[in-house]
Amino acid sequence: MKKSFDKGFITPHPVLIIGTYDRDGRANAMNAAWGGQIGHNQIAVSLSGHKSTVNIKQNKEFTIAFATAEQIAACDFVGLVSGEKVPDKLEQCGFTVTPSDKVNAPVIDQLPVTIECKVLGIQEEFGENRVVAEIVGMKADEEVLTDGKVDLDKLHVVVYDTVSKCYRAVGGSVGGAWNAGKKFL
Ligand SMILES: Cc1cc2nc3c(=O)[nH]c(=O)nc-3n(C[C@H](O)[C@H](O)[C@H](O)COP(=O)(O)O)c2cc1C
Repeated sequence: MKKSFDKGFITPHPVLIIGTYDRDGRANAMNAAWGGQIGHNQIAVSLSGHKSTVNIKQNKEFTIAFATAEQIAACDFVGLVSGEKVPDKLEQCGFTVTPSDKVNAPVIDQLPVTIECKVLGIQEEFGENRVVAEIVGMKADEEVLTDGKVDLDKLHVVVYDTVSKCYRAVGGSVGGAWNAGKKFL
């Protein structure tokens, strides 16, 4: 019999590392699990009042990198402390950055895949900032590509388990999309 529950409505979530520059050009990063792709080339993230949120409002541009198993401690760390209180938070967890050539935002060298985003709109509603942005560029280390496409067998991307409050590895393919169901046709 199915039972009702009231925690972790949608699980898992992606683990997105948002990269921004502040007014002085100092790089910052935060962890954001409340977000995802919408439509063909847009993303939406739900942000509270963080230093990163201020940076995004100022620059209207940011990057999003996918957290990986190899960098899980650093990815968690940027979600634990604020750049407001710890200005060298990236250095502290071993992240270095290279400026994006597409947007005014940093690309974290240690995370293999990054998307570059330009803000389309920010809705301040229900105590949150709902940031909708267009994806204007993507970058990936060659090691995680197969035939020019991101290969999840090579990129050890993680998801956030909202119920157990832990990060989980993504497993192998269990069926082709728009394909496995064809057996019922
Ligand atoms: C797993 C995890 C997920 C998070 N998801 C979000 C999120 O979706 N939105 C948000 O506003 N904050 C989220 N946070 C909190 C921010 O990452 C955190 O407050 C961070 O320190 C903000 O950094 P900043 O002040 O340097 O920008 C998350 C933190 C963790 C650990």
